[in-house]
Amino acid sequence: MSAKIIAVTNQKGGTGKTTTTQNLGDALAGKGLDVLLVDMDHQASLSILCGIDQPDQLADDQIVATPILQVANHETPCTKDIIRHVHEHLDLLASNVMLSRIEMYLSSVSMGRETILKRVLEPVMDDYDVIIIDCAPNLGNLTANDMVAADGLIVPMCAQYLSAKGLDLLLGQYADARSLNPGLRIIGALITMKDPNRSMQGKVLESLQRQKEHGLPMFDTIIPRGVAAEEASTSAQSVIAYKPGSKVAQAYMRLADEVMPWIEA
Ligand SMILES: Nc1ncnc2c1ncn2[C@@H]1O[C@H](COP(=O)(O)OP(=O)(O)O)[C@@H](O)[C@H]1O
Ligand SMILES: [Mg+2]
Repeated sequence: MSAKIIAVTNQKGGTGKTTTTQNLGDALAGKGLDVLLVDMDHQASLSILCGIDQPDQLADDQIVATPILQVANHETPCTKDIIRHVHEHLDLLASNVMLSRIEMYLSSVSMGRETILKRVLEPVMDDYDVIIIDCAPNLGNLTANDMVAADGLIVPMCAQYLSAKGLDLLLGQYADARSLNPGLRIIGALITMKDPNRSMQGKVLESLQRQKEHGLPMFDTIIPRGVAAEEASTSAQSVIAYKPGSKVAQAYMRLADEVMPWIEA
Protein backbone atom coordinates (compact mmCIF):
# COMPACT_ATOMS: atom_id res chain seq x y z
CA MET A 1 0.00 0.00 0.00
CA SER A 2 1.26 3.44 -0.91
CA ALA A 3 -0.64 6.62 -0.09
CA LYS A 4 -2.42 8.64 -2.73
CA ILE A 5 -1.43 12.29 -2.42
CA ILE A 6 -3.93 15.10 -2.96
CA ALA A 7 -2.89 18.77 -3.09
CA VAL A 8 -5.68 21.25 -2.34
CA THR A 9 -4.59 24.28 -4.26
CA ASN A 10 -5.60 27.70 -5.55
CA GLN A 11 -3.25 30.69 -5.46
CA LYS A 12 -6.05 32.94 -4.28
CA GLY A 13 -6.55 33.18 -0.52
CA GLY A 14 -9.91 32.52 1.10
CA THR A 15 -11.28 30.03 -1.44
CA GLY A 16 -11.76 27.25 1.13
CA LYS A 17 -8.48 25.30 0.74
CA THR A 18 -7.87 24.82 4.46
CA THR A 19 -11.52 24.11 5.25
CA THR A 20 -11.60 21.56 2.43
CA THR A 21 -8.35 19.89 3.52
CA GLN A 22 -9.52 19.48 7.09
CA ASN A 23 -13.07 18.35 6.34
CA LEU A 24 -12.17 16.01 3.50
CA GLY A 25 -9.51 14.54 5.77
CA ASP A 26 -12.00 14.13 8.60
CA ALA A 27 -14.61 12.56 6.31
CA LEU A 28 -12.09 10.08 4.89
CA ALA A 29 -10.77 9.24 8.38
CA GLY A 30 -14.39 8.62 9.37
CA LYS A 31 -14.56 6.01 6.61
CA GLY A 32 -11.61 4.26 8.27
CA LEU A 33 -8.86 5.48 5.93
CA ASP A 34 -5.53 6.43 7.49
CA VAL A 35 -5.08 10.10 6.62
CA LEU A 36 -2.10 12.46 6.94
CA LEU A 37 -2.73 16.20 6.57
CA VAL A 38 0.23 18.36 5.55
CA ASP A 39 0.16 22.09 6.31
CA MET A 40 2.23 23.83 3.63
CA ASP A 41 1.08 27.36 4.43
CA HIS A 42 3.29 29.39 6.79
CA GLN A 43 0.11 31.03 8.13
CA ALA A 44 -0.57 27.61 9.70
CA SER A 45 -4.38 27.85 9.61
CA LEU A 46 -4.66 24.07 9.25
CA SER A 47 -2.34 23.49 12.22
CA ILE A 48 -4.46 25.87 14.30
CA LEU A 49 -7.67 24.10 13.22
CA CYS A 50 -6.05 20.83 14.28
CA GLY A 51 -5.65 22.18 17.81
CA ILE A 52 -2.23 23.86 17.86
CA ASP A 53 -2.84 27.17 19.66
CA GLN A 54 0.46 28.87 18.92
CA PRO A 55 2.13 27.32 15.88
CA ASP A 56 4.99 29.84 15.98
CA GLN A 57 5.99 28.44 19.40
CA LEU A 58 6.51 24.96 17.95
CA ALA A 59 10.07 23.66 18.15
CA ASP A 60 12.03 22.84 15.00
CA ASP A 61 11.47 19.13 15.53
CA GLN A 62 7.69 19.64 15.31
CA ILE A 63 7.32 21.43 11.97
CA VAL A 64 7.37 20.40 8.33
CA ALA A 65 10.01 23.04 7.52
CA THR A 66 12.63 20.87 9.23
CA PRO A 67 12.54 17.77 6.98
CA ILE A 68 12.22 20.08 3.94
CA LEU A 69 15.45 21.79 4.95
CA GLN A 70 17.08 18.41 5.63
CA VAL A 71 16.29 17.13 2.14
CA ALA A 72 17.45 20.43 0.61
CA ASN A 73 20.76 19.86 2.44
CA HIS A 74 21.01 16.21 1.29
CA GLU A 75 20.26 14.84 4.76
CA THR A 76 17.79 12.07 5.69
CA PRO A 77 14.45 13.68 6.56
CA CYS A 78 13.02 13.15 10.07
CA THR A 79 9.45 13.08 8.73
CA LYS A 80 8.17 10.28 10.98
CA ASP A 81 9.40 12.04 14.11
CA ILE A 82 7.44 15.24 13.54
CA ILE A 83 4.06 13.67 12.76
CA ARG A 84 1.47 14.41 15.42
CA HIS A 85 -1.68 12.44 16.07
CA VAL A 86 -4.88 14.50 15.84
CA HIS A 87 -7.55 11.82 16.32
CA GLU A 88 -8.33 8.28 15.23
CA HIS A 89 -7.04 7.72 11.66
CA LEU A 90 -5.92 11.37 11.31
CA ASP A 91 -2.37 12.74 11.66
CA LEU A 92 -0.78 16.12 10.89
CA LEU A 93 2.52 17.54 9.70
CA ALA A 94 2.31 21.01 11.23
CA SER A 95 3.61 24.29 9.90
CA ASN A 96 4.54 27.70 11.17
CA VAL A 97 6.23 30.91 10.06
CA MET A 98 9.53 29.09 9.41
CA LEU A 99 8.04 27.89 6.15
CA SER A 100 8.20 31.43 4.72
CA ARG A 101 11.99 31.35 5.17
CA ILE A 102 12.16 27.99 3.43
CA GLU A 103 10.21 29.47 0.50
CA MET A 104 12.98 32.05 0.06
CA TYR A 105 15.79 29.58 0.72
CA LEU A 106 14.51 27.25 -2.01
CA SER A 107 15.14 29.97 -4.60
CA SER A 108 18.86 29.40 -4.02
CA VAL A 109 18.66 25.61 -4.42
CA SER A 110 19.57 24.72 -7.98
CA MET A 111 19.12 20.93 -8.29
CA GLY A 112 15.84 19.16 -7.57
CA ARG A 113 14.22 22.19 -5.98
CA GLU A 114 10.67 21.07 -6.87
CA THR A 115 11.00 17.44 -5.72
CA ILE A 116 11.90 18.11 -2.08
CA LEU A 117 8.45 17.56 -0.56
CA LYS A 118 8.08 14.32 -2.53
CA ARG A 119 11.29 13.09 -0.87
CA VAL A 120 10.09 14.34 2.55
CA LEU A 121 6.93 12.22 2.26
CA GLU A 122 8.64 9.07 0.97
CA PRO A 123 9.37 7.61 4.47
CA VAL A 124 5.65 7.70 5.40
CA MET A 125 4.04 6.68 2.11
CA ASP A 126 3.29 3.16 3.37
CA ASP A 127 1.76 4.38 6.64
CA TYR A 128 -1.26 6.12 5.08
CA ASP A 129 -4.04 5.58 2.57
CA VAL A 130 -4.20 9.24 1.65
CA ILE A 131 -2.08 12.34 2.25
CA ILE A 132 -3.77 15.72 1.80
CA ILE A 133 -1.65 18.84 1.34
CA ASP A 134 -3.07 22.26 2.24
CA CYS A 135 -1.27 24.60 -0.17
CA ALA A 136 -0.33 28.24 0.47
CA PRO A 137 -2.19 30.96 -1.45
CA ASN A 138 0.54 31.56 -4.02
CA LEU A 139 2.33 29.85 -6.90
CA GLY A 140 5.79 29.88 -5.34
CA ASN A 141 8.44 27.20 -4.82
CA LEU A 142 6.51 25.39 -2.10
CA THR A 143 3.34 25.14 -4.18
CA ALA A 144 5.47 23.78 -7.03
CA ASN A 145 6.69 21.13 -4.55
CA ASP A 146 3.10 20.36 -3.52
CA MET A 147 2.11 19.74 -7.13
CA VAL A 148 5.15 17.62 -7.93
CA ALA A 149 4.53 15.45 -4.85
CA ALA A 150 0.81 15.01 -5.61
CA ASP A 151 -1.10 12.44 -7.64
CA GLY A 152 -4.16 14.65 -7.88
CA LEU A 153 -5.28 18.25 -7.35
CA ILE A 154 -8.49 19.57 -5.84
CA VAL A 155 -9.06 23.22 -6.73
CA PRO A 156 -11.55 24.97 -4.42
CA MET A 157 -13.09 28.01 -6.06
CA CYS A 158 -15.23 30.45 -4.17
CA ALA A 159 -18.59 30.74 -5.97
CA GLN A 160 -18.51 34.57 -5.82
CA TYR A 161 -15.00 35.03 -7.19
CA LEU A 162 -14.28 32.51 -9.88
CA SER A 163 -11.58 34.12 -11.96
CA ALA A 164 -10.66 33.08 -15.49
CA LYS A 165 -7.23 34.76 -15.25
CA GLY A 166 -6.50 32.99 -11.96
CA LEU A 167 -7.47 29.71 -13.53
CA ASP A 168 -5.07 30.28 -16.46
CA LEU A 169 -2.20 30.94 -14.03
CA LEU A 170 -3.02 27.81 -12.04
CA LEU A 171 -3.21 25.67 -15.18
CA GLY A 172 0.20 27.09 -16.19
CA GLN A 173 1.76 25.84 -12.97
CA TYR A 174 -0.08 22.51 -13.34
CA ALA A 175 1.51 22.12 -16.78
CA ASP A 176 4.97 22.91 -15.34
CA ALA A 177 4.44 20.35 -12.55
CA ARG A 178 3.39 17.72 -15.07
CA SER A 179 6.72 18.02 -16.87
CA LEU A 180 8.31 16.62 -13.66
CA ASN A 181 5.29 14.57 -12.54
CA PRO A 182 3.50 13.29 -15.66
CA GLY A 183 0.99 11.24 -13.62
CA LEU A 184 -0.49 14.36 -11.98
CA ARG A 185 -4.22 14.88 -12.62
CA ILE A 186 -6.83 17.43 -11.61
CA ILE A 187 -9.32 15.36 -9.61
CA GLY A 188 -11.74 18.25 -9.74
CA ALA A 189 -12.51 21.89 -9.23
CA LEU A 190 -14.77 22.39 -6.23
CA ILE A 191 -17.23 25.26 -5.91
CA THR A 192 -17.17 26.49 -2.32
CA MET A 193 -19.11 29.01 -0.23
CA LYS A 194 -22.08 29.05 -2.59
CA ASP A 195 -24.72 31.37 -1.18
CA PRO A 196 -27.84 29.18 -0.84
CA ASN A 197 -30.07 32.18 -1.66
CA ARG A 198 -28.30 33.33 -4.83
CA SER A 199 -27.93 31.57 -8.14
CA MET A 200 -24.57 31.77 -9.86
CA GLN A 201 -24.66 34.25 -12.68
CA GLY A 202 -22.70 36.56 -14.98
CA LYS A 203 -18.93 36.27 -14.63
CA VAL A 204 -19.15 33.15 -12.48
CA LEU A 205 -21.08 31.27 -15.13
CA GLU A 206 -18.64 32.53 -17.81
CA SER A 207 -15.72 31.18 -15.76
CA LEU A 208 -17.45 27.84 -15.33
CA GLN A 209 -17.97 27.67 -19.09
CA ARG A 210 -14.30 28.44 -19.61
CA GLN A 211 -13.32 25.70 -17.17
CA LYS A 212 -15.37 23.19 -19.11
CA GLU A 213 -13.69 24.38 -22.35
CA HIS A 214 -10.33 23.72 -20.66
CA GLY A 215 -11.60 20.19 -19.96
CA LEU A 216 -11.37 20.85 -16.21
CA PRO A 217 -13.29 18.21 -14.24
CA MET A 218 -15.77 19.64 -11.76
CA PHE A 219 -17.10 17.90 -8.65
CA ASP A 220 -20.88 17.41 -8.58
CA THR A 221 -20.78 18.40 -4.92
CA ILE A 222 -21.06 22.14 -4.26
CA ILE A 223 -20.10 23.37 -0.79
CA PRO A 224 -22.68 25.87 0.47
CA ARG A 225 -21.80 28.93 2.54
CA GLY A 226 -22.89 28.18 6.07
CA VAL A 227 -22.49 29.68 9.52
CA ALA A 228 -21.43 26.26 10.87
CA ALA A 229 -18.16 26.59 8.89
CA GLU A 230 -17.35 29.96 10.47
CA GLU A 231 -18.27 28.75 13.95
CA ALA A 232 -16.26 25.55 13.55
CA SER A 233 -13.15 27.52 12.58
CA THR A 234 -13.38 29.79 15.62
CA SER A 235 -13.66 26.70 17.85
CA ALA A 236 -10.70 25.01 16.06
CA GLN A 237 -12.67 22.02 14.80
CA SER A 238 -13.72 20.61 11.47
CA VAL A 239 -17.29 21.36 10.48
CA ILE A 240 -17.89 17.61 10.48
CA ALA A 241 -16.85 17.35 14.15
CA TYR A 242 -18.56 20.60 15.17
CA LYS A 243 -21.95 20.14 13.51
CA PRO A 244 -22.19 16.88 11.56
CA GLY A 245 -25.81 17.52 10.55
CA SER A 246 -25.06 20.93 8.97
CA LYS A 247 -25.33 21.43 5.21
CA VAL A 248 -21.59 22.21 4.96
CA ALA A 249 -20.64 19.02 6.84
CA GLN A 250 -23.00 16.94 4.72
CA ALA A 251 -21.55 18.44 1.54
CA TYR A 252 -17.99 17.53 2.63
CA MET A 253 -19.18 13.96 3.32
CA ARG A 254 -20.52 13.83 -0.26
CA LEU A 255 -17.21 15.20 -1.53
CA ALA A 256 -15.43 12.34 0.26
CA ASP A 257 -17.79 9.89 -1.49
CA GLU A 258 -16.83 11.47 -4.82
CA VAL A 259 -13.10 11.29 -4.05
CA MET A 260 -13.15 7.67 -2.81
CA PRO A 261 -13.20 5.99 -6.25
CA TRP A 262 -10.17 8.10 -7.26
CA ILE A 263 -8.31 7.00 -4.10
CA GLU A 264 -9.16 3.36 -4.68
CA ALA A 265 -8.34 3.38 -8.41
N1 LIG B 1 -18.56 26.76 3.37
C1 LIG B 1 -18.21 27.81 4.09
N2 LIG B 1 -19.15 28.63 4.63
C2 LIG B 1 -18.80 29.71 5.36
N3 LIG B 1 -17.53 30.08 5.62
C3 LIG B 1 -16.55 29.30 5.12
C4 LIG B 1 -16.82 28.14 4.33
N4 LIG B 1 -15.65 27.58 3.97
C5 LIG B 1 -14.69 28.35 4.51
N5 LIG B 1 -15.22 29.39 5.20
C6 LIG B 1 -14.50 30.45 5.91
O1 LIG B 1 -13.86 31.28 4.94
C7 LIG B 1 -12.57 31.65 5.36
C8 LIG B 1 -11.52 31.19 4.33
O2 LIG B 1 -11.55 29.77 4.26
P1 LIG B 1 -10.20 28.93 4.20
O3 LIG B 1 -10.58 27.51 4.16
O4 LIG B 1 -9.29 29.37 5.29
O5 LIG B 1 -9.63 29.39 2.79
P2 LIG B 1 -8.13 29.32 2.21
O6 LIG B 1 -7.43 28.22 2.92
O7 LIG B 1 -8.31 29.07 0.75
O8 LIG B 1 -7.51 30.67 2.47
C9 LIG B 1 -12.36 31.01 6.72
O9 LIG B 1 -12.66 31.97 7.70
C10 LIG B 1 -13.38 29.90 6.76
O10 LIG B 1 -13.82 29.61 8.08
MG1 LIG C 1 -5.62 28.24 3.92
